[in-house]
Order: sequence, then C-alpha cells, then structure tokens
Amino acid sequence: MAALEEAVLYALKAKPGEFVSGEELSHLSGVSRTAVWKEIGKLRAEGYKISARPRQGYKLAAVPDRLTAQELRWNLKTRVVGCRVHAYESTDSTMDLSHRLAASGEPEGSVVITESQSKGRGRMGRAWASPRGTGLYFSILFRPALPVSRVSHLTLVAAVAVADAVAGTTGIRPDLKWPNDLLMDGKKICGILTELNAEVNRVNYVVLGVGMNVNTAKADLPAHATSLKEQAGEKIDRLALARALFLRIDERYHQFLGGGWEHILEDWRSHARFLGSRVRVALEGRVIDGHALDIDSDGALLVRADTGIVESVSAGEVLLVR
Ligand code: BTN
Repeated sequence: MAALEEAVLYALKAKPGEFVSGEELSHLSGVSRTAVWKEIGKLRAEGYKISARPRQGYKLAAVPDRLTAQELRWNLKTRVVGCRVHAYESTDSTMDLSHRLAASGEPEGSVVITESQSKGRGRMGRAWASPRGTGLYFSILFRPALPVSRVSHLTLVAAVAVADAVAGTTGIRPDLKWPNDLLMDGKKICGILTELNAEVNRVNYVVLGVGMNVNTAKADLPAHATSLKEQAGEKIDRLALARALFLRIDERYHQFLGGGWEHILEDWRSHARFLGSRVRVALEGRVIDGHALDIDSDGALLVRADTGIVESVSAGEVLLVR
C-alpha cells in the first residue's frame, strides 16, 4: 500500500465508528482534500467498506479479512515484534524468507507473514498444510543474547504466549502438548517451529515460525488437525488474533530475557492439561510408554516409564496422550 493510501486509512482508523469530514481527513492524513477521494477509492478497491454521507464525510465500516502490513502494524504496542512486517499473498515458506532477511541484516522482531505457503514445513521434516486465506502462517526473527543451550526454551516461551493469545481472543483454552503443539480435543490447532543459526557457542539469530489453523475448513486439514473455527463454531478475526499473537510473543520474549523463565514454566504447566496422562514418547530409536509427570527447569519432559524409571526427554515427540 502506498504512503498516501496508508495515511488516509490510518486517519479513518483513528476515529472508529465515526464519520470524518473530508477536511478533517485531509488534516489528519496530510493528504490534500482532492486526493483524499482518490485514496478512498483505492481503499475500497482493496476491500475496505467505507460509507460516505454528504456533509458528514466518510466512515470506515469494515476491514477486509486480509493480513496486510498496514493492519498488522497499526497501533501495535510491542517492543520489537512487528517492527517490520513483510506480508505476502503466497510464499514457499516464511521460514526461508526470514532466514534470507536475517542474512542481510534485518532487525530483530521482523515478521514475515503470508496467506498461503507452497512448502510450509513443520518439525522433523514434515510438511505443514497452509491453505490460502484461512490460517496464520508467520515467522519472527530474533537475535537473542543467549547461550545456544537456552534457545530451545524459546519454543516453550512462544507456546505459552500463543496459548494466552488464543484464549484472550477467542475464549478457547487450548491444551499444550510438549514441546510446542497446541491441541483442542486432542487435535492439532497450532504448531511452532524454532530454527537456529549459530556458531559453536554464539547465536547468530533464531527464526520462530507459527502455523495456526484459524478459519480452515475440516476438508482442508489433515485428519489429526482441527481449526479454531471448527472449535468455536464461528469465524475468527484473523487480524485481531495475529496482533494479539505478536503482542503476547513480544511480552513473553522480554519476560524470558529478563530472567522470568521459572514463571513462564509455571504458566506452561498451567496450560498443559496432558501432564499426568498416559503417554507414548518417541525418542531417536526407541519409544517410552508411561505417564507424563512434569517438565523440569530445563524444559525437558519427565516421564515415569512403565518400568518405573523416570526419564528426562529433551528431544523427542509425544505420540499419544490417553
Ligand atoms: C510443527 O508443529 O511441526 C511446526 C509447524 C510450523 C509451521 C509454521 S507455518 C509458518 C512457518 N513457515 C513454515 O514453513 N513453517 C512455520
């Protein structure tokens, strides 16, 4: 969106639910009165519903369901997340784009978001289904001053933030499955992927990817997945949810950097209803059957195996929760 169009949009958004005269719009946006009309036409062509009344002016009546940088960044009260937003209609994977930007000096907090992905990827080399216009698929670039060994904690930090944002925006309280899945009724609603670029003992940067099934129809999802719309029974405002995600991730990230890990672990536990259940956990080359007990102070999953031994799992996957 060009600068003049954005200025008129932001002037309209500054007066929610109100008619704003052409003169005031011109004053608020710095766009000449004659040009305001032209910019309104462009906004309408992009799907904005703008009512017009003689002598009263213009009112923003509805915003299109599109993940644009203008909407995502408007009045966004974060410290770093969303400082830049690169929004696309389609990409291969937002992870790849974030890595490319990181290599050319992109600042911390930069977001790449897209309406669809042709090569969305998940953990363990799996594909991530990314149908157009219904989900949220984005990556955030972080440059944390952390030892390499602590980067895996960021996945749990993000999982708590995402669970908070989903609950706050939709009222749905997802279950957290270690380390980073959000589930409803045992079906996946969101996945988080953390990729690290580092030297032996120095973090260059981290790309955190979030994929969420928001308004996705059942037919477009894998069998083990569900969407927020399926669960809530109504369409979810993707823009509001994305903005809440940016805000919560930003808050939790700074809480983590500021020494709040123990507190975050407590909150993670309070979201993880699967703790206490029977689980099957896949490790490299073997499987443990037992009960999920807790996560330890390093974020590893503690499982009491049926043999009686308590195992600490720091890399693996929970296959089954019963
Ligand atoms: C998982 O549960 O395995 C993690 C899924 C992560 C998917 C997101 S969608 C946005 C970003 N781009 C990708 O290619 N993957 C992540």
